[in-house]
Amino acid sequence: MKRILYVASEAVPFIKTGGLADVVGSLPKYFNKEEYDVRVILPKYMCMSEEWKSKMNYVTHFYMDLAWRSQYVGVLEMQYDGVQFYFIDNEYYFAGAKPYGNIYQDIEKFAFFSKAALSALPLIGFRPDIVHCHDWQTGLIPVLLKDKFHEGEFFRDMKSVITIHNLKFQGVWDVKTVRDITGLPAYYFTPDKLEAYGDANYLKGGIVYADAITTVSDTYAEEIKMPFYGEGLDGLMRARSNSLRGIVNGIDYEVFNPETDPCIEYHYNVRNFRKEKIKNKRALQSELGLNQNDSTFMVGIVSRLTDQKGFDLIACMMDEMCQNDIQFVVLGTGEEKYENMFRHFAWKYQGKVSANIFYSEALSHKVYAACDAFLMPSLFEPCGLSQLMSLRYGTVPIVRETGGLKDTVIPYNEYEGTGTGFSFANYNAHEMYHTLQYAMHIYYDKKREWNKLIDRGMAADFSWNNSAQKYKELYDWL
Ligand code: ADP
Ligand code: GLC
Repeated sequence: MKRILYVASEAVPFIKTGGLADVVGSLPKYFNKEEYDVRVILPKYMCMSEEWKSKMNYVTHFYMDLAWRSQYVGVLEMQYDGVQFYFIDNEYYFAGAKPYGNIYQDIEKFAFFSKAALSALPLIGFRPDIVHCHDWQTGLIPVLLKDKFHEGEFFRDMKSVITIHNLKFQGVWDVKTVRDITGLPAYYFTPDKLEAYGDANYLKGGIVYADAITTVSDTYAEEIKMPFYGEGLDGLMRARSNSLRGIVNGIDYEVFNPETDPCIEYHYNVRNFRKEKIKNKRALQSELGLNQNDSTFMVGIVSRLTDQKGFDLIACMMDEMCQNDIQFVVLGTGEEKYENMFRHFAWKYQGKVSANIFYSEALSHKVYAACDAFLMPSLFEPCGLSQLMSLRYGTVPIVRETGGLKDTVIPYNEYEGTGTGFSFANYNAHEMYHTLQYAMHIYYDKKREWNKLIDRGMAADFSWNNSAQKYKELYDWL
């Protein structure tokens, strides 16, 4: 039996800000329980819903030294969907209306969390063979495992893996403060270890010290070795390329299933979508006050509204795109300039553009089910889950060929009759627009071809089965 511990800052259904939560919340389910004991440890944020907090059971508590401070660490637990979850409690660090977002607080918060997660293990009585860390928030763990923790019998030879979900976020702060917070000796703060460009960098620490590094698609694993995508760490990625591999994300095929999804009104599958899917479109048009029209090409966007996702291209082409027989359904929150941009277009093109500037799991499912196409012209995309959800719901993705978008969406080839979506290579507004126009042409003028695109997309398998196998191989190799 192999024991694996996932340490992360978020996981569904407890807390979610992006795709990381989907991954950490669903992947552990896909390991055979006879062979792998996969458990997950998360912070217990005060902003988690009461529904979950009230179901957690107290396990133990202790006081932990964090440099010169002594801090309370509570440990709670809960089984969910067959997976054992633990939660680290500390009301000073995990207060606030959002789980994280202010780097000056987050730096200390996740130093605390990383050390607390390891320190709790002997008390819980769970000794993992491998600690699997996710993103910069847990980057200190591989460092700690090689530092003091290494001296105790319990932690000796414990291996670590770090998965990079987004290289853009690295957890960077000045060396002096980070030394003060973590109590780590000066030895670690050199450019071959935790330091990068004069500052302390949590993710870099994780990448330097982890026994293996993964990221969430093959293409992204290659891209981050180049300056354009490397976020200043491309040299390190090249240096560690022997230990770096891409494993593409999957999605939870039980939760994202158009045949059973409780969030959508009309269920369908790959055999009857031609008749049934349209009913969800009608329902959404009426719910959001869009013009009632079966044939209008409906495009969905469900996203964090940030530069990463290519919204400057959309800003540039929105007026032109709206000259067509088209509708946009936008669901997202993020940068104010993009929130206001979509509010503006919803006002300007009433009946054509619906801007839903909030977070709603239920509405996101309705968008995936109702739309004809899904637009995701990302500047970079480590993997992307929204396009996988779209494929699953028979909504044709239109994407830029980067990272996981390139690896999961096969571009339509009208001569061979292959492909599951539409894509373009260059980060260029007109290229995006021409690709969208091409998609519209197939939709309006070659409906049979369009439906075959949906057939192929819905038949593709992006459940975790394939990728969980790759993680198993990695764990076994370690
Ligand atoms: P990222 O992690 O970079 O944000 P992904 O495509 O990997 O991008 O994952 C985004 C996840 O967040 C998807 O599950 C998507 O449906 C969801 N999501 C994003 N914005 C919203 C929103 N406003 N309401 C509901 N779900 C959202
Ligand atoms: C990050 C990336 C996204 C990826 C997700 C889960 O948020 O931006 O592309 O799908 O992590 O790995």
